[in-house]
Amino acid sequence: MRIGTPSEVEKGENRVAMTPDSARQLQKLGYECAIEKGAGKPAGFSDADYEAAGVAIIDTAEALWADVDIIAKVRIPTTSELDRLTADKTLITFFNPGGNEAGLEQAKSKGANVIAMEMVPRISRAQKMDALSSMANIAGYRAVIEAGNNFGRFFTGQVTAAGKVPPAKVLVVGAGVAGLAAIGTSTSLGAITLAFDVRPEVAEQVESMGAEFVYLDFEEEQQDGASTGGYASVQSEEFRNAQLAKFRELAPEVDIVITTALIPNREAPELWTKDMVDAMKPGSVIVDLAAEKGGNCKLTVADEKIVTENGVTIIGYTDFPSRMATQASTLYATNIRHMMTDLTPEKDGQINHDMEDDVIRGATVTYQGEITFPPPPPKVQAIAAKPKAAEPELTPEEKRAAEVAAFKAQTKQQVTLLGVMAVLILGVGLIAPASFMQHFIVFVLSVFVGFQVIWGVAHSLHTPLMAVTNAISSIIILGALMQIGSGGGFLVVLLAAISVFFAGINIFGGFLVTRRMLAMFQKS
Ligand code: NAI
Repeated sequence: MRIGTPSEVEKGENRVAMTPDSARQLQKLGYECAIEKGAGKPAGFSDADYEAAGVAIIDTAEALWADVDIIAKVRIPTTSELDRLTADKTLITFFNPGGNEAGLEQAKSKGANVIAMEMVPRISRAQKMDALSSMANIAGYRAVIEAGNNFGRFFTGQVTAAGKVPPAKVLVVGAGVAGLAAIGTSTSLGAITLAFDVRPEVAEQVESMGAEFVYLDFEEEQQDGASTGGYASVQSEEFRNAQLAKFRELAPEVDIVITTALIPNREAPELWTKDMVDAMKPGSVIVDLAAEKGGNCKLTVADEKIVTENGVTIIGYTDFPSRMATQASTLYATNIRHMMTDLTPEKDGQINHDMEDDVIRGATVTYQGEITFPPPPPKVQAIAAKPKAAEPELTPEEKRAAEVAAFKAQTKQQVTLLGVMAVLILGVGLIAPASFMQHFIVFVLSVFVGFQVIWGVAHSLHTPLMAVTNAISSIIILGALMQIGSGGGFLVVLLAAISVFFAGINIFGGFLVTRRMLAMFQKS
């Protein structure tokens, strides 16, 4: 099959959905690649680069749409673009299916299959296809750079011969993908960074990046990511008031505010009110990443930079990824390439549109003449989700009765197990010598304790656990070496040698895994 990318028709859009590198990877999947003449130029990729990567250059968009089976593009397709679809074509693009009913109807009437990149579910396996995250990452980074460009001071504090410079204070509201990228950039530039999010579970991530999490004096039931696919849901009025009160307190202190707060498929919540803007120092900067959805600050003008009467700059650009088109195109094209890998399990250049696959099903918005949006919830839980079984409502008496019954059953099981073990040990004790029995009891107890300890360890503690097992393996090796040296029979030496072998695997394997994990955190 042939996959092609047209130039983006949206004014000011510089990104492109295929790069020479991604084209090379697509060819490895068995596809032929094509691109409209000059489509990569705004992102810094020349036609010659594409040609060198084996991509066919097609003169017009019309010819390209007609010529290929799969079209990969960035922006929501226009009516005339959708008009070029036919029943045998697959379109992969941002589509905004929630707010693009006309587009869905048009694609349906054409019978084409449309994959909406913003619908890729936020599950671990799909992270490499998550274009919303890769674009938000860029937006977060660029928001800080843009703020710095409009801010008259250093980010980092300095003591110079010419005087002392205090560090800038940056507040990031909403620590999702864009927010975390902004926090990382801001802390690495040396600013004092504060961050707030309604999801308390991100506090740890925020703090691990060197920023300070802003806590509220407010008790509200924690949000459960499971029900919301890893996104936030709406807050109570009291919570919102506590949040605004905290921001009002912070407004005179902070120099830069970057707002990224959003709940999917809703208008952005107003979090930075006019009185907060009025309370800010002249020269302060607000970058409102939620501008496209109405803004977290209502003074924000989408796609513009304004300066308020008290000298606060408010930036409402909605095209940050396009302002870093080379980087954005590289990441987006990689997301598309991974989506194609998922669609081509046989690597034979043929799409296998498997609607049983969580990721493909989730992202498909029209399929074989049907609108398939919204998708059913994914079978795999969102990354942030904690698995929770549905529990039936019970009265307190029923609960107590259930607890007593469970306790009784557990006790019965334990007593039976103990009884069986006692009989077994007694049986062995009748025939085995006393010195064996001593070792045997220690062995049984250590198996029991080891099993209980390791079984109960949370996943997050597996790395430290590995270190402990390394220590245990070392003890095993020492013991085995002593046995080998003790001049026992052949069987003893053989068993000891086998234990050295297995304990060695554990130790060296542990070191290798630990090294790989450490490398993930190392700055190159
Ligand atoms: P996300 O869903 O990962 O993060 C949003 C965060 O806001 C979540 O952590 C959520 O818990 C938090 N949040 C929701 N309501 C809140 C509230 N009332 N107070 C505090 N935090 C709250 O979204 P992502 O991917 O990080 O995107 C963030 C924003 O950036 C979105 O508005 C998105 O449209 C925008 N964006 C803007 C671009 C631009 O060029 N301007 C480009 C890409 C994304």
